[in-house]
Amino acid sequence: MKTIQITSPGAFALVEKELPLPGPFQVRIKVKATGICHSDSYTVLGTFPGVTYPRIPGHEIAGIIDAVGQGVYSWKKDQRVGVGWAGIRCRRCQACRRGDFILCQNHQITGIHYDGGYAEYMIASVESLAALPDEISFEEAAPLLCAGVTTFNALRNSQARPGDLVAIQSIGGLGHLAIQFANKMGFKTVAISKGAEKEELAVRLGAHIYINSEKENAAEELSKLNGAKVILATAPSGKAISTLIDGLGNNGQLLVVGSSNEPIQVTSMQLIRKRCAICGWPSGTAFDSENALQFCAQTGIRPMIETFALEKAQEAYQHMMDNKARFRSVLKFD
Ligand SMILES: NC(=O)c1ccc[n+]([C@@H]2O[C@H](COP(=O)([O-])OP(=O)(O)OC[C@H]3O[C@@H](n4cnc5c(N)ncnc54)[C@H](OP(=O)(O)O)[C@@H]3O)[C@@H](O)[C@H]2O)c1
Ligand SMILES: [Zn+2]
Repeated sequence: MKTIQITSPGAFALVEKELPLPGPFQVRIKVKATGICHSDSYTVLGTFPGVTYPRIPGHEIAGIIDAVGQGVYSWKKDQRVGVGWAGIRCRRCQACRRGDFILCQNHQITGIHYDGGYAEYMIASVESLAALPDEISFEEAAPLLCAGVTTFNALRNSQARPGDLVAIQSIGGLGHLAIQFANKMGFKTVAISKGAEKEELAVRLGAHIYINSEKENAAEELSKLNGAKVILATAPSGKAISTLIDGLGNNGQLLVVGSSNEPIQVTSMQLIRKRCAICGWPSGTAFDSENALQFCAQTGIRPMIETFALEKAQEAYQHMMDNKARFRSVLKFD
């Protein structure tokens, strides 16, 4: 099988490998599409704890089961499935025992701690499998397995209720799906992006209000609207996220999904005065992914994608890193 491996930080290589065999409680997936998430930079740059080389990145995978290992009864060959960030849990820690798998502290993450979807085939454990609805194509399903489930899950577990003002910061892979989810969940939806270029697309995706953060102070604009109940921050920048805190309303929640090594800076008064909270949200389980996929099938939400062949993975990755993807680069397999 053809694979794209990261062999050392920043080095992509096209490598032919033997077809792997699924072990007990595992399946082999014939990959049909893999989305390129900003978090793939953890593998490419080697910045996530525990990443080793060579490693095949990719944690937004859609495909069909092509072989099943011992002990697999509930999944069948030829079934359409997806795999996301949540790969293999330890089953021993407190979070696993409580059933809160996404908080497993010994989690092996897809495309980081074991090989992911920049490949024609991959091995996945049964606990990481989400069934794909027939209505959603492989290439549209792939980004929903991370960008989709992360924003869907963060918003559905947030403090916002229908009618509340919810702002989405940054319109990339996560942000463009978050705008659609926020709209369909009944929130008054604000999109915040740098420049005017993405305004028309943001409105088409369901934003009721657009804030150009290059021209206007986004926090002030949100304050004029009485402040946001939730700001879902998808920017990969602590500095950019910090600028929005004063845009929260009373009891507002800054919900951080965009990750970077920069600190988020806040004074105590910024939080105390309006009883605000800052919290994070990590992706979701395979079951959460099935919920997100079903929600998309019901409501018509789909990612906007640009497809690339596996051989063009480095180009597709760079396209995303350069903020040129509208809005998700997806590797498509024949
Ligand atoms: N919590 C989780 O479970 C989870 C899951 C997936 C991804 N993530 C993280 O979420 C973030 C977004 O991922 P993505 O796949 O949506 O990325 P993406 O497609 O590259 O989009 C990120 C967007 O953020 C803005 N941006 C880019 N660089 C920036 C910078 N230096 N400063 C300020 N804004 C910047 C741009 O939007 P505008 O042009 O509109 O400003 C860009 O389109 C990444 O940090 C990723 O690692 C977290
Ligand atoms: Zn991701």
